[in-house]
Amino acid sequence: MPHNSSETRIQDPFKPWKYLLSPPLKLNFVSPNFMKVLLAICIFTGFSFIYFSTFPGQKWRTATCPECEQPLLHSTYRRHTNIVSATAAGHGVIKTDISHILFGIGGSAETWGQRRRYCELWWKPNVTRGYVWLDEEPAKPWPETSPPYKVSEDTTRFKYTNWDGSRSAVRIARIVKESFELGLDDVRWFVMGDDDTVFFTENLVNLLNRYDYKQMYYIGGHSESVEQDMAHSYTMGYGGGGFAISYPLAAELVKILDGCIDRYAEFYGSDHKIESCINEIGVPVTREPGFHQMDIRGSPYGLLSAHPLAPLISLHHLDYLQPVFPGRNRVGSIKRLIHAYESDPGRVLQQSFCYDLTRNWSVSVSWGYNVQLYPFLVRAKDLSTPLQTFLTWGTWSQEPFTFNTRVLSLKPCERPIIYYFAGVDGSGSGKTLTWYRRPHPEQRRQCKGENYGAGYTVKGFNVSAALLDPGIWNKAPRRQCCEVMSGGDRVDGVVQVRIRGCNQQESVTPP
Ligand SMILES: *[C@@H]1O[C@H](CO)[C@@H](O)[C@H](O)[C@H]1NC(C)=O
Ligand SMILES: *[C@@H]1O[C@H](CO)[C@@H](O)[C@H](O)[C@H]1NC(C)=O
Ligand SMILES: *[C@@H]1O[C@H](CO)[C@@H](O)[C@H](O)[C@H]1NC(C)=O
Repeated sequence: MPHNSSETRIQDPFKPWKYLLSPPLKLNFVSPNFMKVLLAICIFTGFSFIYFSTFPGQKWRTATCPECEQPLLHSTYRRHTNIVSATAAGHGVIKTDISHILFGIGGSAETWGQRRRYCELWWKPNVTRGYVWLDEEPAKPWPETSPPYKVSEDTTRFKYTNWDGSRSAVRIARIVKESFELGLDDVRWFVMGDDDTVFFTENLVNLLNRYDYKQMYYIGGHSESVEQDMAHSYTMGYGGGGFAISYPLAAELVKILDGCIDRYAEFYGSDHKIESCINEIGVPVTREPGFHQMDIRGSPYGLLSAHPLAPLISLHHLDYLQPVFPGRNRVGSIKRLIHAYESDPGRVLQQSFCYDLTRNWSVSVSWGYNVQLYPFLVRAKDLSTPLQTFLTWGTWSQEPFTFNTRVLSLKPCERPIIYYFAGVDGSGSGKTLTWYRRPHPEQRRQCKGENYGAGYTVKGFNVSAALLDPGIWNKAPRRQCCEVMSGGDRVDGVVQVRIRGCNQQESVTPP
């Protein structure tokens, strides 16, 4: 049936330029909308200026950093073993492990040389299963550290009528079908991702274990930018954040996919086509907030410091964002985060916060990423609301997002003092010690207030926590509590924080 989206666009004067911007690197510079784009760029540049002048440490983040490019060692990566479980999936069933997942990564021969930097951070040769699907045979020898590749079937016979997108969407949409038709043994889940998606596979495995792979599931996350959800869909698993399709659903999907791709010929993205075809089967997306499409521009700091209460599953668009850690390049930053993740996968980016009432301090920990110290009392709801250090994806606007944000003040006396993850000792039995330090050199404008003076004497935080039991996600969700231990910082300027499960009647409530 023909779709009337061109009519809709004519009726809504704002839609065309949102469409224009949805693939931001394919701007049409002869369009009359160019001025709007220019305006957006100016706003973004202004924002960046403010950002850099208040985070001057970020200026040298692009400086060469040779140690950042060393290959990541996976020595601490725990091998998965088939454990007979008695959990959600049923009694006496072999638990889903990494070997049951077949990854399908949408790539292209031309860009793989760049994109493999991200994929190879999480891909474990001979452990993870799957393929990068290319548009043509690669010209260079294929790297051993990359997932094996396959060349997609020809898709010229399919219809693609989106005026703004790329035909490759058809090819990428068919990856799930081509993967299914390989007929590989013991595949329970097909997980799709982009070539610049970083998966946190241990968390992904634990997450999929919460769902019965014998039923039809479609699991993913949406876009952070409302304009993207409007232009594409609110109800799909975004391809960059990645999504998972259970075997029985894939089996039904492949039967209708080819015809369906033609029916939704005007849809821009492969993920939108997949959602539409799954919709014909009647299966909605199961939304998991740990899949991160990362449709934002600027710094991910605010978002990652107040992560939702859910395991981290994926990150995307890292080449379009400022590096996660100041003073490190993009890839080096993700390596650092993975270093923390490997010591306690479920806990990475989990937020806990608590007060030190002897000094009226608020301390917020995003485990494995940073500690934020406010030398005054901040309400819990504010601490758990992301600081807006980013703009929307398509139009680089201040809003709206699919979650609430709070303004990051430009006044030094209203901003948190930030300490970044610097190391982890995970050798303790069932426990970790992570430490967080202020970036050097600290160039940011400082607050002259007495309370900040006391805050600045803190050189770092040492945070202890028990390994997070993945079983916690099967229970009613509750943020974990923390406490600031007294004493230590008077000696060497390091404050001790302990993260633990909350007591029955505990809350983060100021006196
Ligand atoms: C993966 O397995 C193949 C075949 O068994 C072997 O030749 C290769 O060295 C292995 N690669 C790694 C990184 O273990
Ligand atoms: C903390 O704040 C409360 C309320 O503003 C105040 O009464 C108290 O004296 C403060 N305590 C310290 C140690 O500053
Ligand atoms: C904090 O952790 C670091 C790194 O393990 C350690 O050297 C230091 O002694 C610890 N500081 C305190 C006060 O425990």
